[in-house]
Amino acid sequence: MSQEGNVTMEKIVSLCKRRGFVFQGSEIYGGLRGTWDLGPLGVLLNNNIKREWWKMFVESREDMYGLDAAILMNEKVWEASGHTGAGFSDPLVECEKCKRRFRADHLENKEVCSECGGKLGEERDFNLMFETKVGAQGDVKSYLRPETAQGIFVNFKNVVDSMSPKIPFGIAQIGKAFRNEIAPREFLFRVREFEQMEIEYFVKEEDWKEKFEALRADIQKWHAHIGLSSENIKEHEVPENDLAHYSKRTIDFEYNYPGKGFDELAGFAYRTDHDLKNHMEASGVSLEYVEPDGNKFIPHVLEPSFGVGRAFTAVLAEAYTEDEMGGETRTLLRLPAYLAPYRVAVSPLLKNKPELVEKARNAFSDLKKEFGNVAWDDNGNIGKRYRRQDEIGTPYCVTIDFDTIEKDDTVTVRDRDTGEQVRVAVGDLVNYFREKFNS
Ligand code: GAP
Repeated sequence: MSQEGNVTMEKIVSLCKRRGFVFQGSEIYGGLRGTWDLGPLGVLLNNNIKREWWKMFVESREDMYGLDAAILMNEKVWEASGHTGAGFSDPLVECEKCKRRFRADHLENKEVCSECGGKLGEERDFNLMFETKVGAQGDVKSYLRPETAQGIFVNFKNVVDSMSPKIPFGIAQIGKAFRNEIAPREFLFRVREFEQMEIEYFVKEEDWKEKFEALRADIQKWHAHIGLSSENIKEHEVPENDLAHYSKRTIDFEYNYPGKGFDELAGFAYRTDHDLKNHMEASGVSLEYVEPDGNKFIPHVLEPSFGVGRAFTAVLAEAYTEDEMGGETRTLLRLPAYLAPYRVAVSPLLKNKPELVEKARNAFSDLKKEFGNVAWDDNGNIGKRYRRQDEIGTPYCVTIDFDTIEKDDTVTVRDRDTGEQVRVAVGDLVNYFREKFNS
């Protein structure tokens, strides 16, 4: 696949709203900037992305362990990690006239407000963490985590003690992260509440370069797996003066977002022993790894970090297609079957013929039992159903018609991308799709 020339962010956002993928957060109250809600189809696509990631990076490997840590953590975690300091701040400027706030590093004109022409005030550091109070007295300060990574570092000893992993090994986690972004923008690209899929991969210091290259290749494979074409992905070596406070080397994997161009999709950092060392010093608990021969050391860390929302946007951008079929323009999402919200849609040709409906219901329930995400669609005429399923990326539509009940017990299976139709025996449907989906 590769992005079609006619795809724009506006078309993707409009499809997302119209077809139940993504809604503005708190929409009926005018929204809340930097928040979005996933609708019924968005949840399915999002879950499929996360499931495929987990399968590839955790289940299919022997050197990865899963974790699901709490979002609220002891405030000392964030002092030790460096997030309460300037390292996790963005430069903020405020217009003295209209009071609008901007990220200074995103401004072309550093002196004059782009909205009202007023004078911009002094630049200051703005910490991106959301602060909160824990407990009925409200006297315990905490933060909504700005990355899932720290939940992994503070559980390093628990995982080592309970699982006895051999180094090198990784701990993976998928979960929400929160950042009080100064300027949330561009749909799911920069938001205040988002999901991350992160791995902290623990290595001996002398092995980091070799393991860095191995993980880099795994990240490339992941992006190909979710359908992103190589011409839309670029690796950007982050220059030293731009590195995060914990990193010695970072590669940003950038995607060519429609109407925006190349920008960050995922990050891959060499975090050295920064986090484990700081947590060890601050907590007084040893976070050293002990080898069978008694040799002790603080492992170094490689961190592939993926934003689910950015992957979601890239997957949609890549899949979005407009073509002509039967003399009409149609919109379709060419999603791989394992990412599509529904893998199959089942319809009776006419919804007022009980014998067709009954047969279709049986096929639907067999397919649903086997594949889970299967849609029942009996709205409108068959042409409209096909268009609707094309637009949400359903790879196959099954139609039960009069030939099914009067002639040979076969159904029509229609292919989303080509529009081609074949007849398949009802009794063979589950096997037919099993083969399709496994190939
Ligand atoms: N633990 C490392 C870390 O959090 P990061 O580069 O700040 O590194 C990792 O974030 C990924 O999380 C990014 O590549 C991006 O995909 C996603 N991400 C970060 N901030 C985001 C935001 N405000 N909105 C949406 N996604 C975001």
